[in-house]
Amino acid sequence: MKVLVLPGDGIGPEIVAQAKKVLNALQKDGLDIELSEAPLGGAAYDAYGAPYPEFTQKLAREADAILLGAVGGPQYDQLDRPLRPERGLLGIRKDLNLFANLRPAILYPELANASTLKPEVVSGLDILIVRELTGDIYFGQPRGIRVNEAGEREGFNTMLYSESEVRRIAHVAFRAAQKRGKKLCSVDKANVLETTEFWKEIMTDVAKEYPDVELSHMYVDNAAMQLVRAPKQFDVMVTGNIFGDILSDQASMLTGSIGMLPSASLDQNGKGLYEPSHGSAPDIAGKDIANPLATILSAAMMLRYSLNNEAAAVRVENAVKAVLAQGLRTADIYEAGTTKVSCSQMGDAVVAAL
Ligand code: NAD
Ligand code: IPM
Ligand code: MN
Repeated sequence: MKVLVLPGDGIGPEIVAQAKKVLNALQKDGLDIELSEAPLGGAAYDAYGAPYPEFTQKLAREADAILLGAVGGPQYDQLDRPLRPERGLLGIRKDLNLFANLRPAILYPELANASTLKPEVVSGLDILIVRELTGDIYFGQPRGIRVNEAGEREGFNTMLYSESEVRRIAHVAFRAAQKRGKKLCSVDKANVLETTEFWKEIMTDVAKEYPDVELSHMYVDNAAMQLVRAPKQFDVMVTGNIFGDILSDQASMLTGSIGMLPSASLDQNGKGLYEPSHGSAPDIAGKDIANPLATILSAAMMLRYSLNNEAAAVRVENAVKAVLAQGLRTADIYEAGTTKVSCSQMGDAVVAAL
């Protein structure tokens, strides 16, 4: 199996280095993977003048799975939009048809006090956000900034979903719910937006094929509120690209820190890109203090979904649980009575716990 590693920008290289340590340790135990590396985002712009250059594209297309850190940084924010790091990320997602983004928010019992919410609200939390990743207002045309008939400048984007796009993500979400608590909540804004009224209609139709799954619908504003009021009411949530982006960052705080939330972005055939749900965290980059666990847990998802190695995935997840049980914490999840460790020390501890 070929695994392409894309460290990216900011804390990307620091956190990916820890996940690589874990993969290297598994290789020594017989995991048969071949690792290669390429730049994406700002690093790719610096090296090749494009955020998703051909060099990276070729390796990405050939790979069975991809592990990404994060992209972006303030030094790139003034570039023309097609040259910006975020376009590299959107480009690779679209190019590889990675339409199904799975973002599991799980609270490890040891981190019950790390969350900003009361322990009783979050303890035992285990929800899965299924976010559509290659459609919606992120990709809809037309888009841009223009001068209108009155001579005033205006910005515009198009929220758009085709029926096939909604159907395929619906099936992913229903199948995921079947394997879990059999409850699926589809999040929309059908009271205002036609696109999501259409989404809701398709979800309801696909539900007929999954009689064992209980489908509910919720408006996104209410869903945002319910996620902090009583998050454990949810099992699987499915939503479009933009709502899923926002709700998953919000859900990350239920787990203690955004540094704990992994993700898998999958195509129709099991190929996937695995990355933490957070960004390049420029405010803490280069300090060796970022939490690498979301990236390490993303590598576990890669072992499970693309490399079909459930045993290795569980081994990595158990190692993460073990270091948390040992009381090791990066700064973002630190609390009195635990031991603060750096990003690289956390990576070493996970390897030791394997
Ligand atoms: P961010 O997720 O990078 O950071 C938000 C906050 O969370 C910061 O205070 C940061 O220090 C903290 N944080 C994030 N990850 C952490 C970790 N692993 N350990 C400890 N703390 C962590 O979001 P932002 O600041 O809005 O964006 C920064 C840059 O990242 C932007 O250029 C943005 O476009 C990009 N971005 C990239 C991705 C991605 O590559 N998938 C995702 C989101 C944002
Ligand atoms: C994410 C990020 C990206 C997104 C950005 C950086 C393009 O926020 O992966 O959640 O909005 O999808
Ligand atoms: Mn995001």
